[in-house]
Amino acid sequence: MGESVLTAGFAPADGALACEGVSLETIAHEVGTPVFIYSAGAIRDAYTRLDRVLAPVPHRLHYSVKANSSLAVLALVHSLGAGVDIVSGGELHRARLAGLTGPDIVFSGVGKTERELREALAAGILLFNVESEGELRLLDRVAGDMRLTAPVALRVNPEVSVDTPHHYTRTGERGDKFGVPYGDALAVGRLAFTLPHTRLLGLDMHIGSQVSSVDPYRDGMLRLLELVDDLRAAGAPDLRYLDIGGGLAVTYDAEDPIDLDAYAATVLPNAAASALKLLVEPGRYLVGNAGVLLTRVLYRKEGGGREFVITDAGMNDLLRPSHYNAYHRIDSVRPRGGRTRADIVGPVCESGDFVALGREVDDVRPGDLLAIRSAGAYGFAMSSNYNSRPRAAEVMVDGDRFAVITAREQYEDLVRRETVHPTWRTA
Ligand SMILES: Cc1ncc(COP(=O)(O)O)c(C=O)c1O
Repeated sequence: MGESVLTAGFAPADGALACEGVSLETIAHEVGTPVFIYSAGAIRDAYTRLDRVLAPVPHRLHYSVKANSSLAVLALVHSLGAGVDIVSGGELHRARLAGLTGPDIVFSGVGKTERELREALAAGILLFNVESEGELRLLDRVAGDMRLTAPVALRVNPEVSVDTPHHYTRTGERGDKFGVPYGDALAVGRLAFTLPHTRLLGLDMHIGSQVSSVDPYRDGMLRLLELVDDLRAAGAPDLRYLDIGGGLAVTYDAEDPIDLDAYAATVLPNAAASALKLLVEPGRYLVGNAGVLLTRVLYRKEGGGREFVITDAGMNDLLRPSHYNAYHRIDSVRPRGGRTRADIVGPVCESGDFVALGREVDDVRPGDLLAIRSAGAYGFAMSSNYNSRPRAAEVMVDGDRFAVITAREQYEDLVRRETVHPTWRTA
């Protein structure tokens, strides 16, 4: 399954790589490079696979907007039946523009501001995944000011051991900044159903990202179930939701994706035992393998015993290799056949600007196109203007059609909010 999922939506046709029915060469010609390209069919397939294994229990997928927050992607997953998980007021704005309404939205994050709480209360969101006592008390005050009652799921740090490829992506271990520490959760949960303007409707965890083992889901859910019992015994009147976060791993290379059957075998009995509606917040699983970053080779050069392939995509476009030491497979769109071993690097003025080091790739020449695979999640969403590089365009393919869903930034966009002549203010 790994290979077919890894290459979801992308396959060679007439000697060149295509996304569904559209050649990547056509997109490069018409839209330019670098460009992120997403297969709508692959996103639909991933959604259906996950939704189907959870079918035996009442559930909803709340797509994690941070993975890929482009409006057309949000609208696509919403059309399939998903709600969303947001982590900022900006993501709330995006979600609503894409057609999601309050009941479709859960709001996570350790540092929600008063303004963000107000905006989400006004939008009538389904749940605030509250991560601290301080946030709970502020939410209660703000909801009171607005004459509303805030729906709360307590995000608990289950303090289990989580194995992910990089420690930055672990969020459910003891000492992580996320969630209410397990030992405090009963007291904070009790507060949530006692305060006048908050209503405790559920419990939540999110243990990490790119998690391939089901063990931490089992361990975490068991801890949440204990807490559900304790809260019910303490008189919690209205528990309805059990949110187990996202984190499901995809394949970038040789890693195992999450085994969906094993995941279901772990999650379903525990969800059924809780008698609560299951919420899941997948990000990467829905979009990760469904996208590539298409880039053009600018130069080849040798130096100090190393061979370099210099592309027009840099770390500002795809941060994962330098930030997480992440692996992305790299394929020539129209392979030449010979092989070479090279560092695949971008134009950014940082030695950390690479997609791969010492990688065996097709023996490309300047002008050739490379597809950096599995770039659908945490690709464009983490891109920046570093080195004053306009951000890439985004394209969605559906069957034999394609559309630009995000126009390439222009130089004017880089300086739109800046001024050469400051308007000074005095203290
Ligand atoms: C609260 C929350 N939910 C869901 C996710 C989605 O994670 P993933 O993309 O690994 O499914 C994240 C990302 O880290 C998150 O912080």
